[in-house]
Amino acid sequence: MCGIIGYCGNEDSVVRLIDGLKALEYRGYDSAGVSLFAEDGILTVKASGRIANIDTRLADEHSGVHAECGIGHTRWATTGKPNDINSHPHNSGKVSIVHNGIIENYKELKRACEQQGVVFASETDSEVIAALINLKYTETGDVMQSLRWTMAQLTGSYAVAALFADREKHVFAFRHDNPLIAAATADGNYLASDFAAVSKYTDRYYLPEDGDIVEMTADYIKFFDADGNEKQIEPVVVTDMNRADGKQGYPHYMLKEIHEVPRAIRDTCKDHIYENLPTFDKELTEKLAGAGRIYIIACGTALNAGKLGKTYFEKYAGIPVSCETASEFRYFPPILNENDRFIFISQSGETADTAASLRMVKARGLYTIAVVNTPNSTIAREADNVIYTRAGTETAVASTKAYNAQASLLFILALGAALEKGTVSEETAAALADKLVNQLPEAVETILADTEKIKALSEKYCTAHSCFFIGRGPDFYLAEESSLKLKEISYIHCEAYAAGELKHGTIALIEPDVPVISIISGDKIRSKTINNAAEVKAREAKVLMVTDRDTDEAEHTADDVYVIHCPDSDLFHICAAVFFQLFAYHTALGKGWDVDKPRNLAKSVTVE
Ligand code: AGP
Repeated sequence: MCGIIGYCGNEDSVVRLIDGLKALEYRGYDSAGVSLFAEDGILTVKASGRIANIDTRLADEHSGVHAECGIGHTRWATTGKPNDINSHPHNSGKVSIVHNGIIENYKELKRACEQQGVVFASETDSEVIAALINLKYTETGDVMQSLRWTMAQLTGSYAVAALFADREKHVFAFRHDNPLIAAATADGNYLASDFAAVSKYTDRYYLPEDGDIVEMTADYIKFFDADGNEKQIEPVVVTDMNRADGKQGYPHYMLKEIHEVPRAIRDTCKDHIYENLPTFDKELTEKLAGAGRIYIIACGTALNAGKLGKTYFEKYAGIPVSCETASEFRYFPPILNENDRFIFISQSGETADTAASLRMVKARGLYTIAVVNTPNSTIAREADNVIYTRAGTETAVASTKAYNAQASLLFILALGAALEKGTVSEETAAALADKLVNQLPEAVETILADTEKIKALSEKYCTAHSCFFIGRGPDFYLAEESSLKLKEISYIHCEAYAAGELKHGTIALIEPDVPVISIISGDKIRSKTINNAAEVKAREAKVLMVTDRDTDEAEHTADDVYVIHCPDSDLFHICAAVFFQLFAYHTALGKGWDVDKPRNLAKSVTVE
């Protein structure tokens, strides 16, 4: 996925485009580029690497350029390596475009263009869009017709902004199944992948629909429907916005955001406690309490938080829960029933697989609930009901505080559903809510204060090329999130394994000094997981036990034990996650990696 932006106005478009791209960098940062209406036509400057590279090249090579209109792009490579030639914008004849999305039929379209004499420079699907538009524009001289014809050729998802060399100071755009907003500000008009790019200039934006074409100049923004008729769109007024707030003295966003976990838990849950009881919209708790089954659908860390939610709904409300990987669910859904309920979890609210799964469920007339951290995002807008985590802006690509906030919200939502269903008493619900909002943040603070010890453990355990995390039940769900956190920023190959499953094959990979992190909480399966730790210890693995109580059981099953005291065993995982977030952070830092922008990743995956 990528970020696109267009600007027309009286300000220096280089400054405005670069500024907007920096706000979109969370969507991908393999390469970047801009196309500008300069004195002698369209000037395109693009390169692999960060947006700052473009800024530097423009200053070094084009310091004199002044443009009041242009487009920009920050890329997360989908088709074609992240190199200079594959970076956007892509040009063909009189046309220059930037694209977010994936064109699934680009190879056949590329061949058709080549048969008409087009010579391609890049490996990308996006360059084909530029070629198609230019071919039709050369034939007809009609911008709208060339854009509409091109859309009709494309299969896949796209948000495209385009310049035409002989339509100076105009930016055109169109979209299908991919986010695109337009915004009018005091000193210029914008097109962008999302509101983040313009939030410092305005509190409102327009949402073109799939198939619409947008025509923008410094003086106007016009929308045209699929039949070419101009249409009016009411602006969305933003009343609730996560404002970027910088690192606030921390060396990295990730560390800052880990330290914001206690506040994120409090801020997320306090709005849902009234007179000491978990309280939600009546329709919401009734829908959940009456559910035959709840499906929790998400990706990555959000899915891992959802798995903890499964534990809570099943234990407290007695509702069966299925957790589904959104990229699988959208194509291979289970048999769904009309009294099933669907919770879609997303920090960004823009994840393509989660949004597509939401649309599929809504198309069947089923009730959808979004748990989202980003107001005004696609998933927040499209669900029947939305509950916000209040973690604040999460900038580091590796999600931390959002995970703790998501799991906390699911915990208190499960209690809300349980009260509605009558499966927990008000006394129990109030006591658990108090532990969540008032005691759990304090337990997290204790871990945060222990960062040097956690750093020492990371140095001891993260020296190998691989690392295993084992646990049972919710401990396994936390193992999955802890494994993801470590691998995505340290690049160590990590695997999370159900502790009882390890012996069915994978234990063959255990050799002397391979680190195994055993996560053990509660009473039910304690001895079982300890046995599993003993099995790997017997094969000379290096075992770190992370557990919820002081223990003498570790003598033969762990080289180190880290004890996390938590107000309730069901809240252990939300708390212990902070240990693993710091564990991963120190490991990646020790290896010299960029903890905030790991290689190959993006903060919001807006393509399949
Ligand atoms: C989290 O550390 C990852 N970067 C990634 O797995 C992320 O959780 C996933 O892409 C889902 O994103 P979302 O919560 O914005 O939908």
